[in-house]
Formats: sequence, structure tokens, C-alpha cells
Amino acid sequence: MQGNRLSEMLGVRYPIVKGGMAWCSGAKLAAAVSDAGGLGLIGGGSMEADLFREQIQKARRLTDKPVGVNIPLTFRQSKELIEVAAEEKVPVIFISAGSPKRYTSMFKELGAKVFHVVSTPEQAVKCEKAGVDGVVTEGFEAGGHNGREELTTMVLVAQTARLVSIPILAAGGIASGRQLAAVMALGAAGAQIGSRFAVTQESSAHEKFKQYCVEAGSDSTLVVLKKKIPVRMMDNPFRAGLIEAEHRGASGEELLEILGEGRPRRGMFEGDLVDGVLEIGQVTCMMDDIPTAKEVIDNIIKEYQEVRNSLPPL
Ligand SMILES: Cc1cc2nc3c(=O)[nH]c(=O)nc-3n(C[C@H](O)[C@H](O)[C@H](O)COP(=O)(O)O)c2cc1C
Repeated sequence: MQGNRLSEMLGVRYPIVKGGMAWCSGAKLAAAVSDAGGLGLIGGGSMEADLFREQIQKARRLTDKPVGVNIPLTFRQSKELIEVAAEEKVPVIFISAGSPKRYTSMFKELGAKVFHVVSTPEQAVKCEKAGVDGVVTEGFEAGGHNGREELTTMVLVAQTARLVSIPILAAGGIASGRQLAAVMALGAAGAQIGSRFAVTQESSAHEKFKQYCVEAGSDSTLVVLKKKIPVRMMDNPFRAGLIEAEHRGASGEELLEILGEGRPRRGMFEGDLVDGVLEIGQVTCMMDDIPTAKEVIDNIIKEYQEVRNSLPPL
């Protein structure tokens, strides 16, 4: 794959970003992705400020390639994480949720590249106006938190490409070279991938969670908590209880109470497949192994090259 404007902007070989993922993406995975030619992000969404700083510094020891960070503005510690990212002079910052106006100019003045995660084309337009360097358009297929609008990657990327001129990183449902080729055809300049990297050897997720993802089928994930914070979860007894509560008309507050504190940690990091929250994208049904991050990238690039030259004639 020849470098394109996005890979040049990010200073990487391939325009493939490993998204920030709570409980799955520390320095080890981020550095492995960057070493393999993509851009690894340290996921701040599950870290206290001290741990976040430690992981940024650790990634620098593990690789001489650029490593970025992801900070969800909904996270209670987001302000502290923003300060750490600024102090540590992180070269690429991915912000999710919240307003793109809030920190873009501050990071740009520090010389960082700023990307914002969106779930609608209209949000992407606002981001461009706020001066971000690029957007991540995350479709409804994705693992983790989802947009209320339920736009799929297919429509979200294509429509966003009609409205903005900054580079678009497509996210949601991408784990193979075929899927990368598809989003490039829609107008993306690259892809942000989550689920596929959550289930790799370097991911900090629990082995039981990784194995559960490998065994999942196409009906294993659903978006729940739509009234409050829509999130795509794997089937397990905890999710069944939540769905039951939703069906009997539980209020948003009641649902949040059932969710309680610490369930994503319990599920994804500690491997409690019964009572924990297990976040993964639809594309888990296509994952049948636990490779290294480098194998993921190499396979995607190889398949992308093959597919690019062999589309059926019309
Ligand atoms: C387990 C898990 C945790 C995630 N946590 C975050 C997060 O903390 N912040 C964020 O912006 N996105 C988060 N995401 C979304 C990813 O960064 C990425 O955009 C998404 O996974 C892409 O879709 P895919 O899962 O189909 O590859 C998470 C995704 C997963 C699977």
C-alpha cells in the first residue's frame, strides 16, 4: 500500500489506526500496532491519570514509532487525562464524545494532530469547522458505545465523504482487507479498527473474554441501554437481565443502577463472562483466532492488495 495523505499526516506506513479501547488497549498493544506499521492508540477510557502517563512512557520505551492516545470526554477523569497528554507531548490525540471545540486549538498549538470520533455526518462537519485534522466515523456495527442515530458504516462514511474534505478514518465492522477496501471505496482515507485488535495476543483483555469472542456468532452482539448510553454488548446472563429490564419498561435511571460500577472491568479485564459487561463489535463473528497485532495488519494489507486488483467487472 503506497502512503496516502492520512498515513503521511500520521507518520505511519499504513493508514490503519488501532482505536482506544477501555480495558483492552495499553502500551503493549499500542506499541505492537505502531511497530507493525499502523498507529496504536493507548485507550485512556479506563485509566487513572497516573497509569495513563505510565503507559504513554512505556509505549515510548517499547517502540520508536509514533503512538497516540484516545480520551473519551464522557469519562470522569477526562480533564486529568487531557493534561497528561499535553504534558507528555503526545503527537496524535483522538477525542471521542463531547464538543470538538473544547481542546482542538489547545492541542494544535502544542503541535499535535487532533482527530475526533463521530457517529453522524453532521458532527463531522462541526469537527471540520472546529479545525480538527481528521474524523473517525464510527458506524453502528462497532464495539463499545454507539451513536443514537444507528447509522451504519456504509452510509455514514459515504455521506461524510460528500460533506467534508479532511481525511476520514472509517470505523465499525472492519477486520479484513476486503472491509478496508470497501471503506476506501466509500471515501475513507483509512480505518480505525477496534474489535479485531481487542482479540490479539498483545491485548490486555482477559483470555476468557478473547476466547468467548472467537466463539461468537453473527447473533452474539446487540446494542442495549439505548435510553441512556447505547453500548454494543455480547450475549451473557448479565446482558439478558438488562434486556429483560428494558422489556418490562425500566427507566433509564433504573437501568443505570442495574449496570452499577465496574462491570466492563469485571467482564473484559477480569474475565467474568457471567456478570461482567462484554463489549465487542458485530465483526467478532468473523474472528476465529487470537493472532498477534502484526499478523492482523499483515493479513489486512495482503488481502487489501489482492482485492483491490480483482473486483468483478460490471
Ligand atoms: C472493548 C472495546 C472498548 C472500547 N472502548 C472505547 C473507548 O474507551 N473510547 C473510544 O473512543 N472508543 C472505544 N471503543 C471503540 C473503538 O475505539 C473503535 O472505534 C471500534 O471498536 C471500531 O469498531 P469495530 O469494533 O467494529 O472495529 C471500544 C471498542 C471496544 C471493542
